[in-house]
Amino acid sequence: MSAEPADAPPAAEPRVGIGRHLLSVADLGREGIAEVLRVAEAFAEVERRAIPKVPTLRGRAVATVFFEESTRTRLSFETAAKRLSADVLSFGVSNSSVKKGESLRDTVETIEAMGIDALIVRHPSSGAPHQVARWAERARVINAGDGWHEHPTQALLDCFTVRQVLAERFGADPEGIGCFDGLRVLLVGDIRHSRVARSEILAYSALGATVTLAAPRTLLPPSLEGWPVRVADDFDTALAEADVVSLLRLQAERGSGEFVPSLREYTTHWGLTTRRVGLLSERAIVTHPGPMVRGVEISGDVADLPLTVATRQVTNGVAVRMAVLFLLLGAGGGLEADAPVEELQAAHG
Ligand code: NCD
Repeated sequence: MSAEPADAPPAAEPRVGIGRHLLSVADLGREGIAEVLRVAEAFAEVERRAIPKVPTLRGRAVATVFFEESTRTRLSFETAAKRLSADVLSFGVSNSSVKKGESLRDTVETIEAMGIDALIVRHPSSGAPHQVARWAERARVINAGDGWHEHPTQALLDCFTVRQVLAERFGADPEGIGCFDGLRVLLVGDIRHSRVARSEILAYSALGATVTLAAPRTLLPPSLEGWPVRVADDFDTALAEADVVSLLRLQAERGSGEFVPSLREYTTHWGLTTRRVGLLSERAIVTHPGPMVRGVEISGDVADLPLTVATRQVTNGVAVRMAVLFLLLGAGGGLEADAPVEELQAAHG
């Protein structure tokens, strides 16, 4: 485990389906991603019901174990688990025995000893959820963001949202993954420190999209060898060619400030300003994992344009996380759950 990123996203080995844990997008491969998106579609339908709750994970207990701040990821997982009728426990480091010096291992073993079925782990150190997965005897582990390394469910919900928008606006297949073939995705900003970028690169490229990076040299990883990406020569041209623009926040808490001369200069060169939006094709979609820092990576006006789908990403995050929990805990995930509602069984094939 280290505070350094695991260097390159390894090319996503095409493994089929979801395994015991969800630690990396590479655990899923193309088929696994497609399966999560397909099941999430059924849960998005559940969410539109008057009472958006199903008994699928009744009797299961899920804990969010967050060693780092979070607004949307924690709430999203907790909402997802509650909509599946699981019991939800919330562990926050600031009011825990970690403050008294308890180790990660002892903390995890303590939580697992209470009969928890899934640990949803966020940690500032890359690799921490992998370590937790090695210690966990029966609980499933989901990586909710580890250091600079990965944030798999964020990438999954980004793909889900892009497909949904493409289906609505341009009639793409709302269920399949064909819409990603040749899709031109541009990642902009602090790639170096971004776990979202690493997971998105794996997910989009596994689905057949082409991924281009646009960032100051200092905010690119020291080496891109083996990454399935190209680096844009010119930001304005790259914007004009993009179907999807994924904006990333400067990760100040991971030291990004040392890599840019000033925020003003960063915004001038790399911010999505109103002028730059004018360069985008009319089909372009702008995603942002949040939290957005208006006036830095995105101007306030652009954040509120319909082409920016950040709020929709948050909404879809719940359905995608319901799908992940269902696939790990409720659908032959080794722990027998009550029979899921009919639609979900159908969705799962
Ligand atoms: C991201 C994260 O924490 O990695 N946010 C999120 O989970 N929605 C991105 C960020 O913090 O910039």
